[in-house]
Amino acid sequence: MGRVQLDELFLVDYRNISGLTIEPSPRFNIVSGRNGMGKTNLLEAIYIIGSMRSFRQSRRVEMVRRGAAETRIRGRFGDVSVGMTCEITMGREGRQVKIDGKGAHLDGRYFHALPMVIFHPGNLAIVQAGPDARRRFLDRALFQAEILYQEAYRSYGKAVASRNRILKTRPLDRRALDSFDEQLASHGARMVMMRERLVVSMAPLFEEAMERIGGGGQSRMEYRPKVEGGFDEIMSALHNTIEKDTAMGYTTVGPHADDLIFEVNDLDARKFASQGQQRTVVLAAKIAETGSLEKSTGRTPLLLLDDVSSELDKDRNRHLFDFLKERGGQVFITTTHNDHIPIEGDRVDFCVENGSIAVN
Ligand SMILES: Nc1ncnc2c1ncn2[C@@H]1O[C@H](COP(=O)(O)OP(=O)(O)O)[C@@H](O)[C@H]1O
Ligand SMILES: [Mg+2]
Repeated sequence: MGRVQLDELFLVDYRNISGLTIEPSPRFNIVSGRNGMGKTNLLEAIYIIGSMRSFRQSRRVEMVRRGAAETRIRGRFGDVSVGMTCEITMGREGRQVKIDGKGAHLDGRYFHALPMVIFHPGNLAIVQAGPDARRRFLDRALFQAEILYQEAYRSYGKAVASRNRILKTRPLDRRALDSFDEQLASHGARMVMMRERLVVSMAPLFEEAMERIGGGGQSRMEYRPKVEGGFDEIMSALHNTIEKDTAMGYTTVGPHADDLIFEVNDLDARKFASQGQQRTVVLAAKIAETGSLEKSTGRTPLLLLDDVSSELDKDRNRHLFDFLKERGGQVFITTTHNDHIPIEGDRVDFCVENGSIAVN
């Protein structure tokens, strides 16, 4: 099994980090420092190389250090199969990406080659928040798991936006609407198929992890598409809801309304699980995401864990670290209490203070 490994990271004017170059360990990298020092910023920069977006839902200009015109993030990945340097420059003008020094347009193959999983306190939203948080969880995993997902997702989004625009026109332009229905159904069917495949691959891993952590009884992860089936089913759903959609002024059916259900003891974890159980569900979902990505990409994903130990109790922490030790691969962990990280050997310690980083 190949793995994704960051061999060198170079940052200029990224948030509160004016400049840094580090050579991480291929195994454990422990990033410690007090609150507000720049630990999450460092993980965010690494995540951007792998996904071209922040996990904090920040805007691009917010990532440029205050007072600077642009930021530069460069990562060198070493692996027999993925040897490359990726450099991203972001500023008010936009974003530029270079792979091995040459301007590049990134497609699904890039994200597939650099699988990364981030686990951070905000992930609790996967269980607690509305369906959009769960769709985002699926979408982000799929951008990496499936080479063709990003293209389907983008085209689908455009088709929905166009269809919604038509739905607001009066009198309603039925012919224009029909032409967008077909696009929506064809891209939508591809999304549903890939989401289905992802959840089928994650579900057993999720159940196994829940059992091992002791999630309290039988648990399940299940994909709930708004429209079951493929192209034909989406087409008829669109036809059947045309009056409602016209009244609402937007499209009410299709994968943009899908959900993902987590159940503990046959009860919806969002409504009935305790806070502790919900944390277990998120941890298990992340473990499942990692395992599933490993299968689909053929590489052990790089794992980014932001301040998660402080959120988990003793038993869940122990399980998390057992999992990390077993699976291999490169891991970055941020913490305010470096002595709480039960990893001996195979680790490099970084200490962050006001955006500056020292190796211990
Ligand atoms: N664009 C920016 N320019 C300068 N500083 C920033 C920018 N964005 C965030 N920061 C600073 O980064 C710090 C937070 O860093 P963060 O990595 O979240 O801390 P922590 O170590 O607690 O994870 C804050 O002090 C914040 O003011
Ligand atoms: Mg932080």
